[in-house]
Amino acid sequence: MTQTTPTPSTSTTPLTQDQLKTLVGQAALQYVVPGEIVGVGTGSTVNKFIDALATMKDQIKGAVSSSVASTERLLALGIQVFDSNEVARLSVYIDGADEIDGAGNMVKGGGAALTREKIVAAQSDRFVCIADESKLVQTLGTFPLPVEVIPMATQRVIAQFAAKDGVATLRLKDGKPLVTDNGQVILDVTGLTINDPLAFEAEVSQWPGVVTVGVFAFQRAQVCLLGTANGVKTLTF
Ligand code: 5RP
Repeated sequence: MTQTTPTPSTSTTPLTQDQLKTLVGQAALQYVVPGEIVGVGTGSTVNKFIDALATMKDQIKGAVSSSVASTERLLALGIQVFDSNEVARLSVYIDGADEIDGAGNMVKGGGAALTREKIVAAQSDRFVCIADESKLVQTLGTFPLPVEVIPMATQRVIAQFAAKDGVATLRLKDGKPLVTDNGQVILDVTGLTINDPLAFEAEVSQWPGVVTVGVFAFQRAQVCLLGTANGVKTLTF
């Protein structure tokens, strides 16, 4: 189902990608349940959501965060952060995506936070994805697929992707392998067309040394708030 809430606008200048992120970040507030703890993802779109969440911080208990970066931002804005082990269930998890398809399956991990994102998504009743319309795709696979890997398995996982025509590259930061919040590394894989996200996620998740694959099909979105030139489009799956 699709529903569009038009953007109140006095200008004909198209909104920038940053403004679209702000719009969906603010729109996500309607899914936050007063009196509860909210699951919070990671990334530039989620940063807009965190900023918006600060305006209602007195109405919520706090947040479970999916990364050190989001935790720092939440705390700086005065929002209490709980360890995921302290919270049995969350009613909603709000996060961005690198790609989302028409069924709510996503590719995530552009910000290297995919493992904690999948953990918090799994403890939540509903995943609300916030994204600008450039993220909506027919088939997952154009964005290089992030995969968090234990360093000693890197070469073997690269070879396993090569057998699927995927080219896996170690993600670098400042010329050195990027180390995740969990002390592991990230491979970014190009050349894949992911026609069956559930089967793909199930298969790659079992490869020895793979911590988390960035396909979110088991933990797919139930709602996507998509920032478009015509306003926020709400997709439900
Ligand atoms: C981080 C993620 C992000 O949700 C994804 O990369 C989208 O980020 P952005 O909102 O900055 O485009 O998965 O690991």
